[in-house]
Amino acid sequence: MKLKDLESCLQQVDVFEDPKVLLEQYPTSPHIAACMLYTIHNTFDDIKDKVVADLGCGCGVLSIGAAVLDAGLCVGFDIDDDALEIFQRNKEEFELTNIDVVQCDVCSLRESAFAKKFDTVIMNPPFGTKRNQGIDMEFLKTALSMATTAVYSLHKTSTREHIQKKANDWKVKMEVIAELRYDLPASYKFHKKKSVDIQVDFIRFSPT
Ligand SMILES: C[S@@+](CC[C@H](N)C(=O)[O-])C[C@H]1O[C@@H](n2cnc3c(N)ncnc32)[C@H](O)[C@@H]1O
Repeated sequence: MKLKDLESCLQQVDVFEDPKVLLEQYPTSPHIAACMLYTIHNTFDDIKDKVVADLGCGCGVLSIGAAVLDAGLCVGFDIDDDALEIFQRNKEEFELTNIDVVQCDVCSLRESAFAKKFDTVIMNPPFGTKRNQGIDMEFLKTALSMATTAVYSLHKTSTREHIQKKANDWKVKMEVIAELRYDLPASYKFHKKKSVDIQVDFIRFSPT
């Protein structure tokens, strides 16, 4: 599948109707989601026929993209039932059978039955800017406990040094694949501008 076809496919995915600020519910844009998945698929061959987890899956844009690219199975994990209801609707509209969902707090999954049960983990985690500082690293640690091959994640560029230190401590290889300008839509009332750009790293983590 071509990148532009994947992007137009992901434009059909419904997003949050009433996003919850405290859960950092902003969707990955179809453009960024398509670029991420296309790279994971074409450069690293980490999607086709793989068992994939999507942590903080929200309405499912990354899960659906992975399923469309022929993941063996993609399982989305999210805490919020409103988001998961939209996820289910998307799944039905796309008529996908290689996709499933689990409702849970991702931070409680470490050392769980899901340890090393996935080839690949993909995620756009909460960045930890809403009285939940450190949740991005909780997500990352959990993702690393679940994946056997690689974790692909988005992180604020301003936290790169901190993440690199943690990756060294955890003996994990960290590769910044791309630097993105992430366009946060003004979906929250306190945003005065139409959108806010933040610098974000697209990172691949793998065991050394
Ligand atoms: C930045 S959004 C990304 C949504 C989706 N993956 C996407 O790419 O459009 C972060 C998601 O993490 C979820 N979330 C926040 N805290 C969570 C937690 N502790 N456990 C599970 N999911 C959580 C939110 O509900 C939200 O759907």
